[in-house]
Amino acid sequence: MKKITIAIDGYSSTGKSTIAKQLAKALDYIYVDTGAMYRAVTLFAMRNGFIGKGQENTQALIKLLPRIKLLFKYNKDLGFSEMYLNGENVEKEIRSLEVSKYVSRVAELEQVRHMLVDMQKKMGLEKGIVMDGRDIGTVVFPDAELKIFMTASPEKRAHRRYKELLDKGEEVEYEDVLKNVRYRDDIDSNREFSPLRQAKDAIPFDNSDMGLEEQFERMYNYALRIIE
Ligand code: DC
Repeated sequence: MKKITIAIDGYSSTGKSTIAKQLAKALDYIYVDTGAMYRAVTLFAMRNGFIGKGQENTQALIKLLPRIKLLFKYNKDLGFSEMYLNGENVEKEIRSLEVSKYVSRVAELEQVRHMLVDMQKKMGLEKGIVMDGRDIGTVVFPDAELKIFMTASPEKRAHRRYKELLDKGEEVEYEDVLKNVRYRDDIDSNREFSPLRQAKDAIPFDNSDMGLEEQFERMYNYALRIIE
């Protein structure tokens, strides 16, 4: 069977990673969550005091970018890859609402995007990859054979995220999560470098009223039509 590149972009908390993971598993492809990479750089910046409440020193972060080593390590028990930042497993920490608050600011930086996009392009050289993010179909893999652009209403997305965070034991308010979803939509869509845009050849996919099974079926069929 021929191997293809699948690019899944869309707004935050549209469930991109859930569906991308399932798709990669069914096709025996590699799955790459590029949001985890931006989140890990953000965590690095927070830990070093470059970004945080009332703090912002992006120049200092840019200077230290060469010291950031990111690695995805497959966890057999969990069935997916976890993010390592300079040798430390940071998978749990990067998903916190605290990191979500600052990640869009870090993802706006041209130098950060350059570094991460370069890494992502290398990961996809062999094809057989499902990558999700914001600029995969437009910047990272403009020639991807299958591009999906996921959307859902901000309220639906905030509900999903809220539930996820509660399940993980975080104490959060729904209103704060909704605020964060809207804030990230705004920055992600209006930033200067590679803003979130639907690629011309991407399939729009609104999953506001769609269950996981239906989403998977549809996407899997899109992929099979190209592969077979
Ligand atoms: O998918 P996510 O919510 O984990 O992504 C976290 C942030 O990273 C999101 O607010 C925007 C940014 N991001 C990006 O700018 N480009 C990508 N390819 C992936 C994520």
